[in-house]
Amino acid sequence: MVAPVKARPTTDTHFGFREVPLADKQALVDDVFQRVARRYDLMNDLMTGGLHRAWKDDLVTAINPPRGAQPFRLLDVAGGTGDIAFRTVEAGGAGTRVTVVDINPDMLAVGRERSAARHHDDAVAFVESNAEALPFADRSYDAYSIAFGIRNVPRIEAALAEAYRVLKPGGRFVCLEFSVVDVPVLDRLYELYSFNVLPALGRVVADAPDAYRYLVESIRRFPRPQLFADMIAATGFRRVSFRPMSGGIVALHSGWRL
Ligand SMILES: C[S@@+](CC[C@H](N)C(=O)[O-])C[C@H]1O[C@@H](n2cnc3c(N)ncnc32)[C@H](O)[C@@H]1O
Repeated sequence: MVAPVKARPTTDTHFGFREVPLADKQALVDDVFQRVARRYDLMNDLMTGGLHRAWKDDLVTAINPPRGAQPFRLLDVAGGTGDIAFRTVEAGGAGTRVTVVDINPDMLAVGRERSAARHHDDAVAFVESNAEALPFADRSYDAYSIAFGIRNVPRIEAALAEAYRVLKPGGRFVCLEFSVVDVPVLDRLYELYSFNVLPALGRVVADAPDAYRYLVESIRRFPRPQLFADMIAATGFRRVSFRPMSGGIVALHSGWRL
């Protein structure tokens, strides 16, 4: 039984502390990642105290690339500088291939450089595209991942529908995203950290305090984990589940195209 999905705003979205038309959100998101692309990986480590590495390891465990030589194709959407792709290729066998999709050419440029430095050129491809309209055939991938990306996409339902379309029957959708901290005391500390430490880090390291204020606000605006699970199920995915990690700082959602 698919739970009804609560209506979400389709005309306006919140950007930083401004309401902006939904149609303008993508341009503003693109500006954020264009400005931080070169410092993005350093910021990830500083912002999460390295925790993003453990969260991403859990995502790759869920992707579960085969260790043998059988073909396995992952589509990593909003893949940015390639972290999930590299981890998946390094965990998988000789048949593992990853296509990284991102809307931002600056993030992809950093990803291509990192891929060449790691000698992953044969296994990882980079494609500039919008998650809402993917340039791939129906039923062409074994798995679809999106890490810290879906909350940046203006039309989440469109991205989910595209994920479903490009997955083969039997394919898995996995999503890692910031979530809701629901542990007493930790929630207050997280709030203080989010609104004070993060923008300060953004200012010092990436010269982009607004960008990191946007990050915090976009996390607060993202649907709560059960509602997001309902949205995934409403797309047609089955056996939808989610698992909060690190006290709810992030959640790992999963669903299957059956
Ligand atoms: C926070 S980064 C995540 C990068 C990477 N997945 C990681 O975990 O390190 C978010 C990425 O989403 C991308 N993005 C934003 N809107 C997008 C869209 N509509 N389609 C595809 N990518 C998008 C941004 O360009 C950015 O690279």
